[in-house]
Amino acid sequence: MSFPDIRPRRLRRTEALRHLVRETRLSPECLVLPLFVRPGEKVRRPIVSMPGHAQVSVDELLKECREAASLGIQAVLLFGIPLAKDPVGSDAYAEAGIIQQAIRAIKDKQPDLLIVTDVCLCEYTDHGHCGVVHDGAVDNDATLDLLAAMAVSHAQAGADIVAPSAMMDGQVGAIRSALDDEGFEQVPVMAYAAKYASGFYGPFRDAAESPPQFGDRRGYQMDPANALEALRETELDVIEGADIVMVKPALPYLDIIWRVKERFGLPVAAYNVSGEFAMIKAAAEKGWLDERRITLEILTAIRRAGADILITYSAKDAARWLAER
Ligand code: PBG
Repeated sequence: MSFPDIRPRRLRRTEALRHLVRETRLSPECLVLPLFVRPGEKVRRPIVSMPGHAQVSVDELLKECREAASLGIQAVLLFGIPLAKDPVGSDAYAEAGIIQQAIRAIKDKQPDLLIVTDVCLCEYTDHGHCGVVHDGAVDNDATLDLLAAMAVSHAQAGADIVAPSAMMDGQVGAIRSALDDEGFEQVPVMAYAAKYASGFYGPFRDAAESPPQFGDRRGYQMDPANALEALRETELDVIEGADIVMVKPALPYLDIIWRVKERFGLPVAAYNVSGEFAMIKAAAEKGWLDERRITLEILTAIRRAGADILITYSAKDAARWLAER
């Protein structure tokens, strides 16, 4: 059978019909909202390259969390900007560190909101690299204990999921065994499995005040040209105990999301990063693109490629728009 018996347009005639046969659905439960927390009180420092986002103090963070939950968003991803940075990123694993304070405050007010924490040293080191530096290079093995200590301190404060993003070899295994040793065998690891050395992180580095002070991150993050390597990286993280695997950035790497989902079948998270967000905002400001339409189209595409979890700075807007449809 073919035309005129088959007419694909029949199912596109009305919005209700289109909705009925839609293959990929977006809903607020798949969204994770990244938030930036800094010391102080009543602080709200807008991030210029990420309109609508700000570095906020813990009291303001609680408002953000309440608003997110009221829109149906059930998870936040926390990044900390510490009072002081040093070569080993001490605030990252301090009991009274900025993230540890933030986690406790959220858990006290909103125990049901899922807290995912970024486990990486770059916001906490004065040199801005994701690990400790020896002889001008990031020392992989010396960094593992610090990342493990950071993950444990997040779990002690009440984090629901830890998300290592430093791209150190062996970090998932080191974190898994440290969590298990401390009695946190129920805390899942969301591994930044395929994290590329991307130009799309630009606005984030302003937001987190974490640009590397020398060199760049190409010695530990992945080459954008490589796909098979992403599968290998993911496989290693799975072997080391990752519960959820992440691909980052999202939109320029839809093929990677697809391959990772097909190959491993684990829950896949995709990080729709700061530069992806900034591009939409800039074009929308100029009136060149319809922000709402583009945002929902992009998030749908990332889901369609195989992502179950969407980490996105558009989470609140998207949740609002989805409720209106
Ligand atoms: C590293 C980290 C980065 C992002 C999340 N975790 C920055 C980097 O690797 O340079 C980027 C997120 C974004 O651009 O939105 N801790």
